[in-house]
Amino acid sequence: MNTEMNTESKLIYLDHAATSWPKPPAVHEAVMHTLQHSAANPGRGSHQMAVSASRVLFDCRKVLCRLLDVRNPVDIAFTGNTTMALNMAIQGFLKQGDHVIATMTEHNSVWRPLEALKRQLQLQVDYIPVDNQGQIDLQKVKEAFRPNTRLLICNHSSNLLGSILPAAELAELAHRHGARILLDIAQSAGHIPVRLQEWQIDMAAFPGHKGLLGPQGTGGLYIAPDMELEPWIYGGTGSQSETAGQPDVRPDRYEAGTLNTPGIAGLAAGVRHVMEQSVVHIAQQEQQLSQQMMEGLLSIPGLQILGPELGRERTGIVSFIMEHQDPAQIAFRLDREFGIAVRAGMHCTPLAHRSAGTIGTGAVRASVGYGSTADDVEALIEAVRRISQQES
Ligand SMILES: Cc1ncc(COP(=O)(O)O)c(C=O)c1O
Repeated sequence: MNTEMNTESKLIYLDHAATSWPKPPAVHEAVMHTLQHSAANPGRGSHQMAVSASRVLFDCRKVLCRLLDVRNPVDIAFTGNTTMALNMAIQGFLKQGDHVIATMTEHNSVWRPLEALKRQLQLQVDYIPVDNQGQIDLQKVKEAFRPNTRLLICNHSSNLLGSILPAAELAELAHRHGARILLDIAQSAGHIPVRLQEWQIDMAAFPGHKGLLGPQGTGGLYIAPDMELEPWIYGGTGSQSETAGQPDVRPDRYEAGTLNTPGIAGLAAGVRHVMEQSVVHIAQQEQQLSQQMMEGLLSIPGLQILGPELGRERTGIVSFIMEHQDPAQIAFRLDREFGIAVRAGMHCTPLAHRSAGTIGTGAVRASVGYGSTADDVEALIEAVRRISQQES
């Protein structure tokens, strides 16, 4: 079965917020090399290839520590994606009757577990609104704390609006009220600086397949050394096998089952690439491209951009709607007529759409990343202009 699309003719890929593509060549090489030379089962067995597979995992934990400002590699538990990491944190930490504060920018990977726990654990949840710039009023967060608030969950950067929330201030607020903070860094890791220990973040969920430039099927959860979670998945770890309970050592406690060793090798190569470029430089470049995109798109009559206005800080995400046009149709035409890949719809964040007033329509989202150029952005602007002229 041929499942490939033809990427020989130039595809302009502006869907990095979903999954980054292409990947740096070093990522391909690391995956292939690991499959060929180190693809035994990590943490199980003492033969040389099993040991070499364990080293692959440790190496990736170490580079992640450097990028994300984490002291101890064992405080990073690998998962298959951000969603699993968020569930591990939410379901492993919350207890009957707890109160949680989250924001109106959260992804379904936060909203749905919380809504499920509302039924199962009588959890109480407050979602703090964001303004039309995608920003939160810290005073409103402060007022939301109750005696039983145990967790503040915050999307570091909105996957719809491109806004960036003040993680360190939110962590400080949570701690002042005796609560913990879980940061969703799905759209910030590898795109803008993330300083988990400096900001005193308690838990942070990240994908390997977005800004960190790794393969799909990789991701993880940072768990601060003084945090204790009930494991989310129970099973084999290759350690303390004689006991019925999960091992009490990290990271084994949180990593039951065989991990994606080749994928994690690719993730390490992706993280190295990000560090070689410097994340500060990447953030500047992506901000520049998103500003260029905004300037061009805003000159198109009837087009409205969601989130921070031109000139304000944002990531490489630009979501927009156009009068009398269906976002899904715009995305379809961009792909089929112009070879430009963007995403349309709800982007798994109905909460943010409610904030932006686009719950009924959804939006088109263009997002830049590794390999995106000013020419790609110009091509998008020109294509959207042509679509707008043909329809009106
Ligand atoms: C803010 C945010 N959180 C969570 C997720 C879920 O990520 P994953 O697909 O890695 O589970 C996404 C994915 O787009 C996201 O943008």
